[in-house]
Amino acid sequence: MDYNRYMAKRAVPLKASGIREMFKLMADPSVISLAGGSPDPNLFPTDFLAEVSKEILENNGKKALAYGTTDGYAPLKEELIKRAKMVNAVAENDKIIVTTGAQQAIDLIARVLVEDEDIIVVENPSFVGTLNSLRSVRAKLIGVSLEDDGMNMTELEETLKNNNVKLIYTIPNFQNPAGITMSYEKRLKMLELASKYDCLIIEDNPYGDLRFSGEDVATIKSLDKEGRVMYVGSLSKILSPGLRIGYLVADAEICDKAEIVKQVNDVHTPCLTQMIACEFLKRFDVEEHIKKSCEVYGEKCKFMLDCMDKYFPKSVTWTKPEGGLFILVNCPSSIDAGALSIEAIKNYKVAFVPGNNFSTDIGKKSSMFRLNYSTMPKEKIEEGIKAIGKMLTEKLGN
Ligand SMILES: Cc1ncc(COP(=O)(O)O)c(C=O)c1O
Repeated sequence: MDYNRYMAKRAVPLKASGIREMFKLMADPSVISLAGGSPDPNLFPTDFLAEVSKEILENNGKKALAYGTTDGYAPLKEELIKRAKMVNAVAENDKIIVTTGAQQAIDLIARVLVEDEDIIVVENPSFVGTLNSLRSVRAKLIGVSLEDDGMNMTELEETLKNNNVKLIYTIPNFQNPAGITMSYEKRLKMLELASKYDCLIIEDNPYGDLRFSGEDVATIKSLDKEGRVMYVGSLSKILSPGLRIGYLVADAEICDKAEIVKQVNDVHTPCLTQMIACEFLKRFDVEEHIKKSCEVYGEKCKFMLDCMDKYFPKSVTWTKPEGGLFILVNCPSSIDAGALSIEAIKNYKVAFVPGNNFSTDIGKKSSMFRLNYSTMPKEKIEEGIKAIGKMLTEKLGN
């Protein structure tokens, strides 16, 4: 049967994310995965979650297992609003919706605001889940290059001047995949440009809590005086990605529409996981948990950077994150990171994500790749980096 002729035009260009494909390979426990984007599984508060899950099902099972409201479990909404207020990300006319991961919050925005051929600016490289969500609504993506302190603002202004841009999507803290953080000055500049060229901003901040060095920078939303910023948060990186709890804070007009789209999308985020997440935020020592997570990631990041210094050739460079979960490696242009990743899996059972996955032009070869330091123990990090270093040295010399 040839299903292609039945396929919706908008589904034809969609390609499986390289990262999701990697997940299949990573099911093999002997693979050293530097490809994922999860917290360290040793940090999952499993005992606490087991205890509260049992308690919820025993005492409140009828609510936990029934249909819930689309905008989310009210006590969880209250807790999430408190978290968003901690970074001044709630404006007077805003509402919050609990979503099935930050991924869904981004997808709801795409479905509410984006039409065929609408022009959206993204950082290049950027988060593959958002790129695919925007592709699925047939947006036209324009990538603006990323510098050590965020988007190149001259390029952004040129792009806004020459195109009728509707939205700018940014991950200002510990960007995925680059690990870099946008400076305060650039956050102000982005808002100024959004105002001058009349577009909206999606501020996606799932890693914001995971700072292990340097100083916090104000959220773009906190600096926004015109209601241009939609703020997306997540519990995936500070609690567990498997619980699928994210949230959208935006003007009520946008949230109301997003809620209707969510109704036809998944009706609501499961009540049980929302109730578990709510107890975590209410009763667990969340700040202590985050502090501990940051200590672990700071140490693992430094360890990976030291291994890279030791094993990678001199012609290879990489970012130095102050938080989050990723380092982006930049190789000389003779390296095809896609081919390198296949060689790494086949010959060394080491997985990482080649840069083309994060590009607006997924079909173009990339000499960059993303490394994750949060999930693997140190000895595996060293083994993995050593193997990648060996392959790179064979190709590039020392
Ligand atoms: C920048 C960014 N936004 C959103 C998400 C989606 O997170 P969630 O698990 O909350 O859907 C991720 C996940 O890796 C991400 O890196």
